[in-house]
Amino acid sequence: MKRWIIAAVCPLLFLLSTCSEKKAADLEITNLRCEYLKNPLGIDVVQPRLSWVLESSVRGQKQTAYRIIVSSNEENFKRNRGDLWDSGKIKSDRTNQIVYNGQILHSRKKCYWKVFVWDKDGAISENSKPSFWTMGLLADEDWKGSWVAMDTAIPSSKPQDLAPGPPPPWFRRAFTLDKPVTRATVYVTARGIFRLTINGNRIGKDVFAPEWTDYNKRIQYRTYDVTSKLKQGENVFGAIVGDGWYSGYLGWRKQRGNYGLKNSLLLQLEVEYEDGTRKLVVTDGTWRCSEGPIISSDLLMGEHYDARKDMPGWDTVDFDDRDWKPAVEVKKPMAKLVAQPSEPVKVATFINPVDMTEPKKGVYVFDLGQNISGWARLRVRGGAGTQVTLRFAERLNPDGTIYTANLRGAKATDTYVLKGKGEEVFEPHFTFHGFQYVEVTGFPGQPDKDTILGCAVHSATPLVGSFTCSHPMVNKLYENLTWGQRGNYISVPTDCPQRDERLGWMGDAQIFIRAATFNMDVAAFFTKWMVDVEDAQSEKGAFPDFAPRLKDKALMGFEAAPAWGDAGIIVPWTMYRVYGDTRIIAKHWKAMTRWMDFIKEANPNLIRRKKVGNNYGDWLSIKADTPKDLLATAYWAFDAKLMSIMAKVTGRSDEAFYYDKLFQNIKAVFQKEFVLPDGRIRGETQTGYLLALAMDLIPSKLRSNSAGHLMENIRKKDWHLSTGFVGAGYLNPVLTQMGYSDVAYRLLLNETFPSWGYSIKQGATTIWERWDGWTEEKGFQNPGMNSFNHYAFGSVGEWLFRFVAGIDLDPDVAGYKHIRIRPLPGGDLEFVQAELNSIHGRIRSEWKIREGKITLNITIPANTTATVFVPAEDVSQVMESGKPAAGAEGVKFVRMEKGSAVFEIDSGNYSFRN
Ligand code: BGC
Repeated sequence: MKRWIIAAVCPLLFLLSTCSEKKAADLEITNLRCEYLKNPLGIDVVQPRLSWVLESSVRGQKQTAYRIIVSSNEENFKRNRGDLWDSGKIKSDRTNQIVYNGQILHSRKKCYWKVFVWDKDGAISENSKPSFWTMGLLADEDWKGSWVAMDTAIPSSKPQDLAPGPPPPWFRRAFTLDKPVTRATVYVTARGIFRLTINGNRIGKDVFAPEWTDYNKRIQYRTYDVTSKLKQGENVFGAIVGDGWYSGYLGWRKQRGNYGLKNSLLLQLEVEYEDGTRKLVVTDGTWRCSEGPIISSDLLMGEHYDARKDMPGWDTVDFDDRDWKPAVEVKKPMAKLVAQPSEPVKVATFINPVDMTEPKKGVYVFDLGQNISGWARLRVRGGAGTQVTLRFAERLNPDGTIYTANLRGAKATDTYVLKGKGEEVFEPHFTFHGFQYVEVTGFPGQPDKDTILGCAVHSATPLVGSFTCSHPMVNKLYENLTWGQRGNYISVPTDCPQRDERLGWMGDAQIFIRAATFNMDVAAFFTKWMVDVEDAQSEKGAFPDFAPRLKDKALMGFEAAPAWGDAGIIVPWTMYRVYGDTRIIAKHWKAMTRWMDFIKEANPNLIRRKKVGNNYGDWLSIKADTPKDLLATAYWAFDAKLMSIMAKVTGRSDEAFYYDKLFQNIKAVFQKEFVLPDGRIRGETQTGYLLALAMDLIPSKLRSNSAGHLMENIRKKDWHLSTGFVGAGYLNPVLTQMGYSDVAYRLLLNETFPSWGYSIKQGATTIWERWDGWTEEKGFQNPGMNSFNHYAFGSVGEWLFRFVAGIDLDPDVAGYKHIRIRPLPGGDLEFVQAELNSIHGRIRSEWKIREGKITLNITIPANTTATVFVPAEDVSQVMESGKPAAGAEGVKFVRMEKGSAVFEIDSGNYSFRN
């Protein structure tokens, strides 16, 4: 049959057939996403993946088939004509990772899509809400403009001098639209970070675009629909290009210009007129540029703004730009231009100060009550030329002044020079700080609490989790670790947001990643970052210690650290487990195998000992040095195991076999080298035991002995942990799995040093880098390395969800398609309420204990199933919604296991009681 006949007949048949079909009641299709994003603009994945979520209050509701319709225009879309793709009725219960399989998608294509599903009884749903995505500029030739810069002398960057960078260039360009417009799209990027306006209106809410990548290899562009911002007649583009990661200071080397020194802009506006004609406005030598009121602005150093130099209306039509210079066209970079695949960084929350003090005359300190990443909005009135200085800090000195020693080379200082006209409001443009306290000096008059407003920024990863329980300290811990995530997920997963570092440290990222997935949907975020990781892989196959890399020879050796480089394996594996994502595995498979080969080549005898890069060991442990070769070998074995699973799920059976064999071989050597006959592990540190147990490296008959030694070690430390970053991630999960949940709870609830509770007692509002960041005995730790916002020790969040609330993945099923609910009553917790909006929908687990009886209320999303463990001595004592659980609707009793009745259940809401 000819294509057009199919195109014409199919929708008709579909309409006829659906009209006569039974309609599904109580079934809603929500959260339609394309490449993990809602209605994304300008993507460059040519076969994007689609997903949706099913919601229903009917127990056991499921999808038996789906049909996706993708149309190229609204008319076709309304009539269910999938001229781009009509999947037809596909018998499948899949709702995510569905690969678009229609017409080839070219640059700029707008794709409208919807989905119908058939429920468990074969009844058809209402169609989903209409959704869309658009394609970006897929080919280099699509870009018609030139990169433009301002023709000024750029000071060369001498390391160590911490001098401010030059003023960022301001660009403008007027253009005329002489006909009514139907659609206008702007594609824009920069070397530096841009802020774009049209006719004085800000375009997009994102800050810091294009975000951090290895700009020598790829530069991300953003796409905005600007139809409503334009008018017929004259219009004006305004753009400022700040330094950002491209040309500003980065890391601790006091070095600007890590990727280049000259900021430049590339932009392309594509206008479609009502009459079908088009107009293009691009960056070129016709643009005008000038310096402006921003004297300097740097991510680490802060911003200096002189409002006396304001240029009112600079980005509107009436402005006279006679004094501006023509922009110069500069050489286009070698780097690839790619669409940004992740949520942009945005201002997420505003925080009013809880307190204001004046520890010294004229020195005002505002306390936000929360350590955040971002900046402060300043409100001030005063004479022209008055300079107000804002400095930022996480903690206070004993005299109430701000403690800034731990910022090292990051000046984190914003200065605002008043223009002297009425109330002036200042927010910096191209910087962020990690802080709870804002020091204000030079303020004309008496400030009050409205003088300062905290603006918290982070990558706009959607919030998906919540956790509360009856224990205030645990709630505070959960809050602190989510703030740690917010403050550090800024384009890449950084270690800290305040000092001169802020790098995408891989060890921190991998140990926290699973906890992160319970707080926010980080699928798109890590899709992007894995590209940075692969870009940073060395020619020999070494993954870096942080990604993106910086173009700094002195940092080239920062690679291959065990537990850091291994993030290159652990991140894709976690994405697969949590989101069912196999594409990330396929995409980075080659890179992962190169890493595996790199380790093997250096260590043919299967002990990972050869110095081929860094080895930080169990970083920041408390007087407990885990042998570095043990830690390294354990992680290598773990990599091999994960590789074999990932090979299997992507149909690479030979490689699955190879990596499984490698795992077995490393395990055998590990046992010879590190496991003693009585189950003790060489070095006898908590982390040594934890890694060996978590990574399945101990002979099964010795596992409980080893766990006993671990417990003994904790007991000898008066029931305290001594793990660093690496071990802490495994601590409570392993203790729980080995039958020591009482010990895990004890560690959770400790308030004496070292513990999570200890920092909370000292007023922590985020997770600290070190257990002893501040102690009563010694005060502040060495300022050389003492951040109060490092999320790594927040990895305990994983245990709170997976074990305490008991929301977990089935060990053999990815993406929460089959869920495991296994609550862990303990400590003195009376109730726990947790939720996770998974890729399959909302999972809820709430338990409470009263008079020794547990009530467990759970929600299992439509189209999924679960195994539920209800603490009980006998199944007969378990009730569900007031009736015996065994035999209740949607509930099947399967066995008794270790003090729990185990049930298989369908989707829906349940209330169990023992
Ligand atoms: C960072 C850590 C990082 C480490 C490597 C530190 O300076 O802040 O979080 O993982 O270096 O050991």
